[in-house]
Amino acid sequence: MTESDFMPGGYVNDMLSGAFTWKAPSNIALVKYWGKHGNQLPANPSVSFTLDHCATITTLRFEKRDKPAEAFGMEVFFEGVINDGFRPKILGFMERIEPYLPFLRNYHFTVHTSNSFPHSSGIASSASGMSALALCFMSLERELSGGMSEAFFYRKASFLARLGSGSACRSIGGGLIVWGTHKEIPGSSDLYGIGYPGEVHPVFRGYRDTVLLVDRGKKQVSSTAGHGLMKGHPFAAQRFLQASSNISELIPVLGNGDLRAFIRLVESEALTLHAMMMTGSPYYMLMQPATLQVIRKIWEFREESGCPACFTLDAGANVHLLYPGEEKKRVMEFINSELVAYCENEQYICDRVGEGAFLINNEE
Ligand code: DP6
Repeated sequence: MTESDFMPGGYVNDMLSGAFTWKAPSNIALVKYWGKHGNQLPANPSVSFTLDHCATITTLRFEKRDKPAEAFGMEVFFEGVINDGFRPKILGFMERIEPYLPFLRNYHFTVHTSNSFPHSSGIASSASGMSALALCFMSLERELSGGMSEAFFYRKASFLARLGSGSACRSIGGGLIVWGTHKEIPGSSDLYGIGYPGEVHPVFRGYRDTVLLVDRGKKQVSSTAGHGLMKGHPFAAQRFLQASSNISELIPVLGNGDLRAFIRLVESEALTLHAMMMTGSPYYMLMQPATLQVIRKIWEFREESGCPACFTLDAGANVHLLYPGEEKKRVMEFINSELVAYCENEQYICDRVGEGAFLINNEE
């Protein structure tokens, strides 16, 4: 599919007012998206687990205006309180998606959004937030269009979410999601995320992700700025090739459940992401001393117990501890005895691979 396939042909219904509510999950990348070009196109393909518990719930209320207005009509509430801080990001998103949703200026919108994870936990909410909002807009478009196939609905939602935040396009479907064209993954595209179509060993279905909140502060360099620093980065070309070849290596591992190989790839991806930050210009570092201490503890624990738990990182200091569901008991014991000391206020979030976004409410 190309970008023009997401331009609507015309609408058959009129919708005067109503509301849609979607819950969309966060996701954690195994092979990282780091670097982009053009209109939010990834410099390399990435693969993620969709999470379950870490999610955003968004209600989009719409009311038709008498005539289309020049400015978008949008009010944003976060956890029940009007939040003008989110408006610029959402207005920028609306501008980017308007060519594909030409009805946006015909309505006044009110967005109510909240996260299931603690506020300022340092967990990225842009993926789940943009995904939930894209799905709400798609629900309205589906009504205006008099229906569309499920497949197209979700594909376009992912396409739109990408224009809000790249990783958001991986927060629509459940399980393992691929975003970015990869020659060995049929149907993969730079334009949207797809469900990983290859064989998946049962061990990965109930995978857990316990997020160790080592630093809940706002990070000094945003992901968007970090992607920008990959332009002209001395190791960029090599890194983009490496991500593709790591996916080629991951494909058989996902099928055969070889956790040793899985751990090697996932941990290397996390450290490479942070190595890119530390070797760019200007260089910076998002890991904190506690991040390294937790990583060392995880390595020691794995060495001593043989438990196949590993870590990954996103663009921040928190550590995601990944492990098979059947290891839950001993990993939780390890977390509570060895790792909570490094977490701010002893906080961590237990999550697992989830089923993807779903519609909560549809009021017309
Ligand atoms: C390190 O999707 O947050 O989490 O497209 O600028 O919104 P923008 O960036 P974003 O980048 C996420 C990067 C990452 C790795 C990943 O999720 O693949």
